[in-house]
Amino acid sequence: MVDESERERAKSAFADPTQYLRNNSYITLRAQAVRRMVPATSAKSILDLGCGDGRISIPLVGDADELLLVDASKGMLELAVQHVPAAMVDRVHFECRDIATFEPTRQFDLVLCIGLLAHVPNPGSLLELISRCVAPTGCALVQFTDNSCLLGRASNWLGAVLRRLFHPGTHTLTRMTIDDVLSDMAKHGFRMTRSYRYVFLPGVQRLPPPVTHAVVQLAGRKPIAKYGGEVIAAFSR
Ligand SMILES: C[S@@+](CC[C@H](N)C(=O)[O-])C[C@H]1O[C@@H](n2cnc3c(N)ncnc32)[C@H](O)[C@@H]1O
Repeated sequence: MVDESERERAKSAFADPTQYLRNNSYITLRAQAVRRMVPATSAKSILDLGCGDGRISIPLVGDADELLLVDASKGMLELAVQHVPAAMVDRVHFECRDIATFEPTRQFDLVLCIGLLAHVPNPGSLLELISRCVAPTGCALVQFTDNSCLLGRASNWLGAVLRRLFHPGTHTLTRMTIDDVLSDMAKHGFRMTRSYRYVFLPGVQRLPPPVTHAVVQLAGRKPIAKYGGEVIAAFSR
């Protein structure tokens, strides 16, 4: 049974982007990983679902590329607008809407869904949407917390405790395992071609910024990263 009120509570949590963005070195880590994982192609079209402030996908836009940024938070999209270099403004588009109502009018060479799956009550529907958005030879990069991994379960548990203490009333994150994601994507004809893991440390943003940055960079490096519960998986048909 899908609890739609959780969807609304998730959207409210990001209506004011300040809390998510404050000292969030994980955005930099994810942007670095995505950059490494994006296949080298010529001109490409990119869709970023749950784009946040755009810091992950905007740097991927090359001279002839196009980008569509979709997010339910007007505040996030206002920040994303500020991150678009002047030379790109004609090729970067924005759509402020709930992902549940997003209907693609075309397909894209690259579809990003980073940090969104845990915030929707029915991740299966979102994976189905992603599969419809990817062009026949395109690729999707999907990020999620793998609850079958010890550190994934630990960060889910600790994150829930910290949210209850410091932000009571916020939504409950949807839990999933890598097998859930792989089997849903397989149903839509996609297989995982590459993946990257890193360790998520709930509460790390409470440390001084240089310390947070150093700790998060360490959490994303070998040999620690491979034990992490956070996964960015690349999917192709
Ligand atoms: C954890 S942030 C991730 C942002 C960015 N992708 C990143 O990794 O930094 C989740 C984003 O999803 C957006 N979001 C949450 N629920 C949504 C929904 N139902 N429809 C569209 N966007 C949503 C939030 O506004 C927020 O910007």
